Amino acid sequence: MTDLTTRWLGLELKSPLVLGASPLTDELDTLKACVQAGAGAVVMHSLFEEQLVAEQMAAHRFIDSRINMDAEARSFFPESEIFEMGSGSYLQRLQQLKTELGVPVIASLNGISPGGWTQHAKELEQAGADAIELNLYDLATDAGDTADTLEQRQLAVIRSVVEQVSVPVSVKLSPFYSALPAFVAGVEAAGARGLVLFNRFYQPDIDLEQLALSREVVLSTSAELPLRLHAMARLYNRTGLDMAASGGVHTGDDAAKAILSGATVVQLVSTVLQHGPAAFERLGGELTTRLASIGYQSLQEARGALSLDNVPDAGTWERLNYARLLHGWQSSR
Ligand SMILES: Cc1cc2nc3c(=O)[nH]c(=O)nc-3n(C[C@H](O)[C@H](O)[C@H](O)COP(=O)(O)O)c2cc1C
Repeated sequence: MTDLTTRWLGLELKSPLVLGASPLTDELDTLKACVQAGAGAVVMHSLFEEQLVAEQMAAHRFIDSRINMDAEARSFFPESEIFEMGSGSYLQRLQQLKTELGVPVIASLNGISPGGWTQHAKELEQAGADAIELNLYDLATDAGDTADTLEQRQLAVIRSVVEQVSVPVSVKLSPFYSALPAFVAGVEAAGARGLVLFNRFYQPDIDLEQLALSREVVLSTSAELPLRLHAMARLYNRTGLDMAASGGVHTGDDAAKAILSGATVVQLVSTVLQHGPAAFERLGGELTTRLASIGYQSLQEARGALSLDNVPDAGTWERLNYARLLHGWQSSR
């Protein structure tokens, strides 16, 4: 029987299968069922920078309109309380999940500009978050936005969140970096403890009938996993950060591949939205069976076994447009 216990960001988890950030945060019974079925930790959905900044601005307008009130009336609205407006329900939910679930609960922030909104990380820690996942979402739409400008801004956000808290911070990245290992070195220097690879973008499609953009959320398939495997295989042993695979894990074999590439944990969302909490039990069983059949006694033995440094044919990881493969496909037709 393969031992599935693992350490993620210094937290002891009974399983590497973690519920990723999703709307399921709002469904306590479903979350309990996920834990019952084997989820090792739960990530809450994100609080967004835009949402937090809008709250702060609303709070300031609220205070301004009471400037002429008498002192007693104003004392009913201390700044710290007003700062919590709106995100208050998130903090309450976090406290409830901490009390009820019995596994680590990871809060999530999503944003891109270094600024006051990152102070909310402190509130998340005070409400009991075991760790904070920072989802960095940035999109260059201006020719003046260079890769370096965007990356420096992202590193500043990480530093500003890390400074607020003593719990570990993991960073969820997009797949779109020219030189991922160099950026990851910056993430580590900024004080993060883990990476979540990768964020999955909901690219708008075009509805030709309506001549409009369609914004449907399409769930992932296992076809999205190799992008993550490749990134983790390249980074394993070349960063001190723990790595979580996020995107395209639908079977125990998908989870096994992620771990062999170097993942510490594997986050699940689409498969849980499709199949419910039972997905954890199924994937846990499949993962154990697969690792045992290869001969691994623990996740630690399996982790990174097929990473760039450990495979004899490293060129397959390094040269993705390998001429032999491309020509091979043509001749086999
Ligand atoms: C409906 C839905 C809501 C999501 N909400 C968030 C969120 O609030 N924050 C976040 O970082 N990721 C969010 N995600 C992304 C997931 O955490 C995950 O990275 C992505 O779905 C890829 O994993 P999967 O292939 O297992 O679905 C959401 C995904 C879905 C499908």
